[in-house]
Amino acid sequence: MTPPPAWHPHLWHPTTQVARSEPPLRAVRGEGALLELDDGRRLIDAISSWWVTLHGHAEPSIAAAVALQARTLEQVIFANFRHPTAEALAERLSALSGLERLFFSDNGSTAVEVALKIAWQWWQNQGIARTQLIAFDGAYHGDTFGAMALGARSLFSAPFAPLLFDVARAPWPATWWGDATVEAREAAALTRLEQLLSQPTAAVILEPLVQGASGMAMVRPVFLRQVEQRVRAAGALLIADEVLTGFGRCGELFACRQAGIRPDLMALSKGLTGGFLPMGVTLASETLYAGFTDEEPSHTLFHGHSFTANPLGCAAALASLDLLEAHPQRHRGLEARHRVHLEALAGHRKVRHPRLLGSIAAFDLAVENPGYLHPAGRRLQQLALAQGVFLRPLGHVVYLLPPLCIDDDQLAQCYGAITSAIEHL
Ligand SMILES: Cc1ncc(COP(=O)(O)O)c(C=O)c1O
Repeated sequence: MTPPPAWHPHLWHPTTQVARSEPPLRAVRGEGALLELDDGRRLIDAISSWWVTLHGHAEPSIAAAVALQARTLEQVIFANFRHPTAEALAERLSALSGLERLFFSDNGSTAVEVALKIAWQWWQNQGIARTQLIAFDGAYHGDTFGAMALGARSLFSAPFAPLLFDVARAPWPATWWGDATVEAREAAALTRLEQLLSQPTAAVILEPLVQGASGMAMVRPVFLRQVEQRVRAAGALLIADEVLTGFGRCGELFACRQAGIRPDLMALSKGLTGGFLPMGVTLASETLYAGFTDEEPSHTLFHGHSFTANPLGCAAALASLDLLEAHPQRHRGLEARHRVHLEALAGHRKVRHPRLLGSIAAFDLAVENPGYLHPAGRRLQQLALAQGVFLRPLGHVVYLLPPLCIDDDQLAQCYGAITSAIEHL
């Protein structure tokens, strides 16, 4: 039998420059923390397949819930209908988040788009002119246009720069183990934020506790609480993009709760369905919802997706929440399990700025001209692959973000692969 070509003739892969990339691996099966390739190799999925595979691949209870739902009600238009699975999910997420209203969409970017539309239109529906939006340096909120505009201008968004609306930006005082400069940088960031908030502001958006795509850039909870105080004092809305951080990724169920902040809007996706189905949700306070519910047609939130509240996604999400609630030690305990390994790695001469939060461990490679295109990350990826570990460094930033089911031996194998790979860089 002839092997399939390295690059499929009809597929176009995301964020992949074919001329500079290794051909994609061909996955045929997943189980727990492992992915199996068509050549029989088994790899540890150390980044949860772009941060979505929360409990593990092919988690049996989620698979069963999806199968049962598929045989019961697979899809229904959500403009004229509701269904019990969506109701149950909305009730549970409202109780867990403290935000009463849930709007469904399809992924993390759309969950952010919806949050942005709600925030923007809420002011407009009241006839109040608040048009400034504030985000943070380094932010990443997705690849659709609104989400791109909110994100930091980058290699990803550069071709579309003229199409992106203006967003004001405050510094993001990321920190790490042994950082002696954080307080001064936090103070500077807050001063800048206060200056920006002197203009009428619709909303401030942030990734609570960790900016993911910009390099697992972690901030202290106290900084977020101070941001919230400023936002409240200015009367603006606070949007928390928990697309990455939600569902135990930072240790507690939601990073906002962990940090002690209460946003007006929250975007969730990735781990929402345990990584089984694409789904996003935007949670909003009842006060915001009330701003859209009068007799005036133009006050409607005219946003909807064909697959809004897809029952299969809702069923997967409920089963995923069951698992989180049944095994809280899995998300609460992963930080301590990382810590021993990261401490051992932290003193390595090629490791800079080690940092850890919940299931996310990260460090920078000590390289010249760091950045997303730095080749050290790709090289490290290849070296780790040879040892059975799939990583996807963000340029010079190496991180582990494994499924919660990862066992001690597998975690040790990940760190072993990284340790030996950085020796060979
Ligand atoms: C914080 C954050 N927001 C939004 C997104 C966009 O999510 P999606 O890729 O599902 O559109 C991401 C994706 O990585 C993210 O990390």
